[in-house]
Amino acid sequence: MRSTLTTAFFRTPDMWRALEAEVLPAMATTARPTVVWSAGCGTGEEAYTAAILLAESRPDAPRGQGQVIGTDLDPKWVARARLGVFADPAVGADRLERWFEPHPRGVRPVKRLRSMVRFKVGDLLRPETYPHPVGVVLLRNVLWHLQDPAAVLRRARSCLRPDGRLVLGGSDFRLPELPGRPVPADMFKLRTAPPGLLELFDEAEHPLVFAPRRAR
Ligand SMILES: C[S@@+](CC[C@H](N)C(=O)[O-])C[C@H]1O[C@@H](n2cnc3c(N)ncnc32)[C@H](O)[C@@H]1O
Repeated sequence: MRSTLTTAFFRTPDMWRALEAEVLPAMATTARPTVVWSAGCGTGEEAYTAAILLAESRPDAPRGQGQVIGTDLDPKWVARARLGVFADPAVGADRLERWFEPHPRGVRPVKRLRSMVRFKVGDLLRPETYPHPVGVVLLRNVLWHLQDPAAVLRRARSCLRPDGRLVLGGSDFRLPELPGRPVPADMFKLRTAPPGLLELFDEAEHPLVFAPRRAR
């Protein structure tokens, strides 16, 4: 198990803007709450980012706005995610004020967000880790840790609801991190897709967001 981890709130901001502007509002028009799965959640920043956007996308439905499941192979990261204490989350002043409360070692998400998020230990190589049905699978910056990325993508596809979306990270295409800057579209011409991706998914609202490919 690794002793360090790279993750952040709103990592790859333009991808989160696409989820916020297009993907989550479309899902919020259906009666059922949207389920987001942060698969390989690390210390929880990604899962709480999703919870913030879900809560903001259904402001009138405090109980039914959605759920976030965070799973990770490493129990140490899951314990940190469950604790949910962050030193200095880079979420912007407005969201810091609205969605976090003081804690002796930093801040933690407010109760409404905490009640939306559940963390569990789970290995992506094991079928029982995959929840069902999921609106958005965040499978970001984890594929190259795995022996058989194509098998994981197949399982991720089968746990998505029909209008669901898969989200990958820059490193899944062997792209460098661009903190705080939009992903330039032409950079994606150079990307290396993980095995199996383009047989199972089509690019959707953003170069890192994919819709399950329909039979043609
Ligand atoms: C680089 S972090 C990515 C964190 C977050 N998804 C992000 O993009 O900011 C990769 C995470 O994948 C987890 N991981 C590695 N292999 C895994 C597996 N087989 N099942 C579940 N999680 C795994 C690691 O423990 C680590 O927390």
